[in-house]
Amino acid sequence: MWKRTFSRRGALFAAAAAGVTGLSWLARSRATLLDYPFSGPAPDRSLGLAPPLDCTRAIPETTEGPFYTPGTPRRTNLREPGSNGRRLVLTGLVLSPDCRPIGGAVVDIWHADEHGRYDNSGFRYRGHQYTDAAGAFRFETIRPVRYTGRTPHIHVKVQGSSTRPLTTQLYFPDVPEDNARDGIFHDDLLMDLRRTSQGWLGRFDFVLAPA
Ligand SMILES: [Fe+2]
Repeated sequence: MWKRTFSRRGALFAAAAAGVTGLSWLARSRATLLDYPFSGPAPDRSLGLAPPLDCTRAIPETTEGPFYTPGTPRRTNLREPGSNGRRLVLTGLVLSPDCRPIGGAVVDIWHADEHGRYDNSGFRYRGHQYTDAAGAFRFETIRPVRYTGRTPHIHVKVQGSSTRPLTTQLYFPDVPEDNARDGIFHDDLLMDLRRTSQGWLGRFDFVLAPA
């Protein structure tokens, strides 16, 4: 159920897309474990998200890729001053396979900017936070755009204090042609995406296996 779905084809595709050598990419292809304390601040309120329909579904694990930076700032707002990227609020729940909320789980995200570029020297569009008592998280950021060989996506690492770590990527359902061309894309990693008067609202719930 929790087997990796990342394929060799996907690895080669990603390496080619990133413009890095196979050797250097493979050296970094093993998922980096999160290294944040599991003692985040006690949440002061639930985000009030509706429960998911199915906690037994497997969340595919996909490649970390070459652009992960550990030690991100703890924050909920990743928007940059002056950015003309389209506003995105990303929310969701972190749950156990029996649908119990996992509070205090670390959710660490990183993604490309409005030009399809990663900040590999700083922390633009990188950050982590802790789920609240209801297992909810919320980031405010922008919609990343496609870059060579990749459909728009948000990288994420999620881990509870007594769960296995999960490294995966989230996708946008309104760019089906880009998604279809991406060798790493997976249907089960599509966000529930809505356009609101405030911008885009994406939701994805994570189900984490026990450690
Ligand atoms: Fe990426």
